[in-house]
Amino acid sequence: LPLLALAALLAYLAGSIPFGMVMARLFGLGDLRKIGSGNIGATNVLRTGNKLAAFLTLVLDAGKGGIAVVIARAVLAEDAAQIAGFAAFLGHCFPVYLGFRGGKGVATWLGTLLGLAWPVFLAAGATWLATAAIFRISSLAALVAALLTPLWAWLLGFPSMVVLLVALGVLIFVRHHENIRRILDGSESRIGRK
Ligand code: G3P
Repeated sequence: LPLLALAALLAYLAGSIPFGMVMARLFGLGDLRKIGSGNIGATNVLRTGNKLAAFLTLVLDAGKGGIAVVIARAVLAEDAAQIAGFAAFLGHCFPVYLGFRGGKGVATWLGTLLGLAWPVFLAAGATWLATAAIFRISSLAALVAALLTPLWAWLLGFPSMVVLLVALGVLIFVRHHENIRRILDGSESRIGRK
C-alpha cells in the first residue's frame, strides 16, 4: 500500500504539470487565462493561432497520463496502473502548482486510455474526431467521447476499466459545466473560428 500511495502521489504531481501554460510561456502566446475559454488545455492554446504549441500541449498533457500508467504497471500491477491514470487526471484538473485551478482533463484522459488499453484509446479518439468533424466543437467532442467510452471498453473486452471510465466521464462532465451551458445556448466556440 505505501508503494501504491507513492505511485498515486507521483502520478498526481506529473499530471499537475500544466503543459499548456508551459507552451504559452515558451512560445510567448500570452496569458491563457485571458484568452478564449481561459482554460489551460490544447483547445485553448489553439485559439492563440499557434498550431504547433497546441499540438505539443495535446501530446504532452496526454503523455503525462500515459507515462504514469505505464510506469505504475511496470513497477506494481494493473490496479496500480488504473489508480495512477486516475491520479494523473486529477493532477491535470486540480494541479498543486496552479492553486488547484486546472484544466478539463480530456488530453490526459486520452493518454491514460492509451496506456491502459490501446483499443479503447482508438475508440475514444475516433469518437472525439467524428464528433469534432461533424459539429466543430472541441468540448462537445470530449463530452460525447467521455459518455460513450465506458460502453466501448465493455464491448471491446475491457470490463475492468468500466468503473474507472464512468468516474472519469462524470469528472469530465463536471469540468465542462460552462461549456455545456454554452453548447445549450448556442454560444460555444467552434474549432478553426475566432
Ligand atoms: O479539453 C477541453 C475541451 O474539451 C474544451 O476546451 O477551451 O473549449 O473550454 P475549451
